[in-house]
Amino acid sequence: MEVLLIQKDQQERERFVFFMESTYGCVLHEATQLDHAHELIQRENPKIDLIIVVGALGNDDEMKKFSMETSSIPSIYILDDALRDRAAGWEGTFLVVDPDQQMEGTVGAIDDWIEQGILEGSKSEQPQVRIRTRLLLSVCPLKGDVFIRLNEGKFVKLFKQGDVFEQSDMEKYTINKGVEYLYIQREQCKEFVAKLGEELKKVLAAGRLTVEGSAKLNESVHEAVHELVANIGFTREVQELVKTQVEVSMRALGKEPSLSDLMKKFLSMEGQYISAHSTLTSYLACGLAVQLQWGSAPTFHKLTLAGFLHDITLNNQELAGIRSLKELEEKKSKFTAEEVKDFREHPIKSAEMTRRMAEVPPDVDTIIRQHHERPDGSGFPGGLEHKYIAPLSSLFIVAHDLADYTLEARDSFNIEVFLQSVSETYKASYFRKILASLETLRKF
Ligand SMILES: [Fe+2]
Ligand SMILES: [Fe+2]
Repeated sequence: MEVLLIQKDQQERERFVFFMESTYGCVLHEATQLDHAHELIQRENPKIDLIIVVGALGNDDEMKKFSMETSSIPSIYILDDALRDRAAGWEGTFLVVDPDQQMEGTVGAIDDWIEQGILEGSKSEQPQVRIRTRLLLSVCPLKGDVFIRLNEGKFVKLFKQGDVFEQSDMEKYTINKGVEYLYIQREQCKEFVAKLGEELKKVLAAGRLTVEGSAKLNESVHEAVHELVANIGFTREVQELVKTQVEVSMRALGKEPSLSDLMKKFLSMEGQYISAHSTLTSYLACGLAVQLQWGSAPTFHKLTLAGFLHDITLNNQELAGIRSLKELEEKKSKFTAEEVKDFREHPIKSAEMTRRMAEVPPDVDTIIRQHHERPDGSGFPGGLEHKYIAPLSSLFIVAHDLADYTLEARDSFNIEVFLQSVSETYKASYFRKILASLETLRKF
């Protein structure tokens, strides 16, 4: 889908572009004025599927004229109360959205138009969405095809739409042959998300999940969500999936997860870095909260959600493992300029995405935005010193380091080594208290 966004304010426009790209994976054309928009439509003649106009960009006559000239293109006008009455005389397939509900209103309108066939959702012949084999098989059969990848860019249809197959057949072709991932097309994502959500609710209802079992599930669901965000965006359905998975994790962790037990359980954690590290950070942050006597259901909820989403906008596994701007500088040549920019911005972008979820506790986006800050001010994106870093963010930052150390050290794990490696960095305010709470684990 190609969208023309006409909005004066640069900062607001950038926010909107990110929102649209991450929600629908669409191509954005930007203009600041009506005549720029006209030129863009005529000169480049791109196939614009949707126009979004934010605010009044001219007088009544100019706005009316623009709406008439573009009446064949579905349009969304985001206008305040005073302007809304004037828009009654304009023409076209347009919908007026209240500026206070800009994001929700836009999503509602676009989803309805996709449903009614006025707009097309993203389509592709190539299967693009990679899902862990076992997770995908747990929701099959899907209405569409399921593919297996032979090599870069070459896919073979494993199951056709409507195929009837037994679970044992699928396992024979996939899990038993060590096929780690299967692929589906973008348009199947909605069905996949719905079915996976149902499966997770069954897991919740059964209520007999071990911490190890929930971590494995969390990791697979995290990988799937990561893929879904990159391909179809952080849609309402994907957000629901995240919430259900967070409930599953919290249920498995129980009321008082023990940090030392959690660390012992996860010394051999496998999987892709971003998902394994996000899962472990969630769990260890909850254990650390108990250790500090900060544990409560709302706190576990915030930490589990922050762990799940804090790196969700990153796609490069190696880049996601970088811990400081200094390390980024040293390894910069391995990455493209765009990847480096994405990395520097990922705390803000991931926080922005989280803020769009309904019923999310307000601190979660702060934790995510601050997860790369350092008490001496050398972190990013804010370069905040310790007194400006929130207590729960401080806890999360230490848990984040501890998770990486646990994943790296494996059998040679020694809390003493970890404490020595971070004691200089984390010596101010809440950080000191958090490290002191880890001292009691020295016997571990
Ligand atoms: Fe991270
Ligand atoms: Fe990060």
